[in-house]
Amino acid sequence: MAGADLIDGRAIAATIQADVARRVAGLKTRGVQPGLAFVRVGEDPASKVYVGRKEKTCGELGIHSETHVLPEAADERELLELISGLNADPRLHAILVQAPLPAQIRESVVYSAVLPGKDVDGFHPVNVGKLALGDPTGFKPCTPAGIRELLAHSGVRTEGAEVVILGRGNIVGKPLAILLCQKEPNANATVTICHSRTRDIRAHCRRADILVAAMGAPEFVKADMVKPGAVVIDVGVNRVPDPGAKGGSRLVGDVDFAGVRAVAGKITPNPGGVGPMTIAMLMQNTVRAAEIAAHI
Ligand code: GUN
Repeated sequence: MAGADLIDGRAIAATIQADVARRVAGLKTRGVQPGLAFVRVGEDPASKVYVGRKEKTCGELGIHSETHVLPEAADERELLELISGLNADPRLHAILVQAPLPAQIRESVVYSAVLPGKDVDGFHPVNVGKLALGDPTGFKPCTPAGIRELLAHSGVRTEGAEVVILGRGNIVGKPLAILLCQKEPNANATVTICHSRTRDIRAHCRRADILVAAMGAPEFVKADMVKPGAVVIDVGVNRVPDPGAKGGSRLVGDVDFAGVRAVAGKITPNPGGVGPMTIAMLMQNTVRAAEIAAHI
């Protein structure tokens, strides 16, 4: 049996980015180029890769980007000073501080310091609040927004669907739950969040019409946890040891892809599923920030 259809995140991201490129061209005719500042603290290898991919996409779409790197030992004050300068720079419409941050820096303090109008991550309390209230004027966090687009573009109906999300993090699980239970198109789902204290995760998973794995546990979701025909979205990026692989390790998702593909109806490949969508939504938020600044 061929198994589940693949949800092609790269192809869907490309259609969204084509629209972003058109909007960037429209801004150019008015003398405006969208600008996005990246901030990294330390040398986390995964963060370097992620920011590198985002910078490359900015270049392809005509968005100005610049990356500021602080040393691993930087304190909160240094980072807040950097953000304050970026907030004040009119060439920059958007700011992204890559998580995770070193332990001496409080993420909540940092994300509260980014101007809400430049907060294309959707992590500032004003944007989190707007998301919770269903106020469309805020910026929605990129991975949850990308997952909603993946579902919509793949013809997956969320209306009345049982959605089970594994993971309650502030970047994916919690905001995705809020987004998918809103009373609006491509939402209206019945959402359950499972986490490390959930009593019977398998029983919850088996009820799901749409199962989203975002807890960071390598290949946690097995075939016997999935209802036949369900839609499975794998957000996980986990590096696991593999003596046979180049560098002695390889990347796997939170889903046992080969096993789950045999029972699911649709599934995201990993890589090539959620990752490209996160970047596409970041580009969309950035062009929107620039349009708002240009009063379009
Ligand atoms: N780290 C993992 N995902 C994200 C994201 O969407 N934004 C930021 N800033 N950091 C992340």
